[in-house]
Amino acid sequence: MTDRTPLVIDTDPGIDDALAVLLALASPEVDLRLVTTVHGNVELAQVTENALRVLHLAGRSDVPVAAGARASLIHPQPERAGHVHGAAGLGGVELPPSPAAVDPRPAVVALAELLLSSPEPVTVAAIGPLTNIALLLAVSPDAAARIGRLVVMGGSAGRGGNVTAAAEFNIWSDPEAAQAVFTSGLPTVLVGLDVTLPTVLTVEGIARFAAAGPVGRSAAAILQQYVDHARDAYGTAGVVVHDALALTEAIVPGTLGTVRRDVVVDTTLGAGRGQTLVDRRSVSAAGTAVEVAEHVDPAAAVEFLVSRLARLDLA
Ligand code: BDR
Ligand code: CA
Repeated sequence: MTDRTPLVIDTDPGIDDALAVLLALASPEVDLRLVTTVHGNVELAQVTENALRVLHLAGRSDVPVAAGARASLIHPQPERAGHVHGAAGLGGVELPPSPAAVDPRPAVVALAELLLSSPEPVTVAAIGPLTNIALLLAVSPDAAARIGRLVVMGGSAGRGGNVTAAAEFNIWSDPEAAQAVFTSGLPTVLVGLDVTLPTVLTVEGIARFAAAGPVGRSAAAILQQYVDHARDAYGTAGVVVHDALALTEAIVPGTLGTVRRDVVVDTTLGAGRGQTLVDRRSVSAAGTAVEVAEHVDPAAAVEFLVSRLARLDLA
């Protein structure tokens, strides 16, 4: 037995995914047992390689990495996000290769085995498209039922989308998978644009962990392209690291104020495809409802991230 919560991160690194993995490794409340990868920001082979390298950067190449779905469940994802994250996903930074190899098991098998063998409930943080989680539900519902908490970065209740007018990237990348997950009854917290967009990591915050040592410096280098993009595109001196906020809620439950809502996903092929339709008319008691994050203290969340990342170099 351990008092650290077992954690799995399902991810598509991705600049903010890399930050989220580093945040988990810097946090004593959780024990990162497995990283599973999914198509998303860039192609599966590249995000899998990135996951290995980010773990190695933090001296944790012992954490297994299992590769998951290379494509969405039904309709191919129309476009990736290399223009935001860099063609190779880590903002143009080439991290040293890891000595570890990819776990031979498919992600869904590795995840099911971990869930079925863990004596404690496992938290799963899903910070890419939800294809792997939907496949787990279909292939091994007994294992899925053992998820203690599923914390998803995705969607938007009232902020519109960030990849189309209606849709947030992770949901838009596989709407059918998201719909299956949100209506499954899994104990899900949805961390969407409503709370991530106000949570801005400033260049001063980045400078604090960059000064802490080589890991912080690499994290800051990975972020630089994001910072440049935000400055050129929006004139802002900071970045939104969506996935790191979802990890904060996974690490410290209750960081975000949530309300139980019914959520469905637009799976039509029209302009609304990928939109999360969050029913805000009332609080739902239904077993299939999702805890939707509606309140955040941005300054506290950013301070948590910066101070934790600065600690990585002390380990
Ligand atoms: C989400 O989309 C991806 O590009 C990010 O990594 C994050 O998971 C934000 O919409
Ligand atoms: Ca992501």
